[in-house]
Amino acid sequence: MSRITVNGIEHEIGSGMEDQTLLTYLREELDLTGTKNGCSEGTCGACTVLVNYKAVRACRFKMSKAHDAEVLTIEGLIREDGSLHPLQQAFIDAGAVQCGFCTPGMIMQAMDLLHKNPEPDRESIRKAMRGNLCRCTGYQTIIDAVELASKRMMTPHLPYGGS
Ligand code: FES
Ligand code: FES
Repeated sequence: MSRITVNGIEHEIGSGMEDQTLLTYLREELDLTGTKNGCSEGTCGACTVLVNYKAVRACRFKMSKAHDAEVLTIEGLIREDGSLHPLQQAFIDAGAVQCGFCTPGMIMQAMDLLHKNPEPDRESIRKAMRGNLCRCTGYQTIIDAVELASKRMMTPHLPYGGS
């Protein structure tokens, strides 16, 4: 029986799931609806999650490739005491959330960036986030949010700091 770990919890992947996408599995089998379905075809980034610490489009990722994978979704960022991850808090503080539909995917894409490059400049943030579409914000506040989160995570003694 193959297994997948999602937000630290191990699950058996049921037979018949191989042809499903990770997005369908997360939303319909595990009821983790924070990961959004914007386009179903890999172009909008709303479904972005981390698989083995790398950002992937869950709508294009088949469960047949998910055996033994470690998946992190937006729900997995909440800390044990219920507080928000610095990236989540920074999106709120920078005014980067309007309708919020793109936000989980944006935050998971930003997680991927900050894993690879904890102190990106604005151009690096823009490049890393350019595949994630937002109809509402005009993108500047999203770049502000990732920059703010990076600063806070690099200075964990400040309010909302730490990873
Ligand atoms: S829903 Fe997956 S990229 Fe748009
Ligand atoms: S906040 Fe509405 S799509 Fe980005």
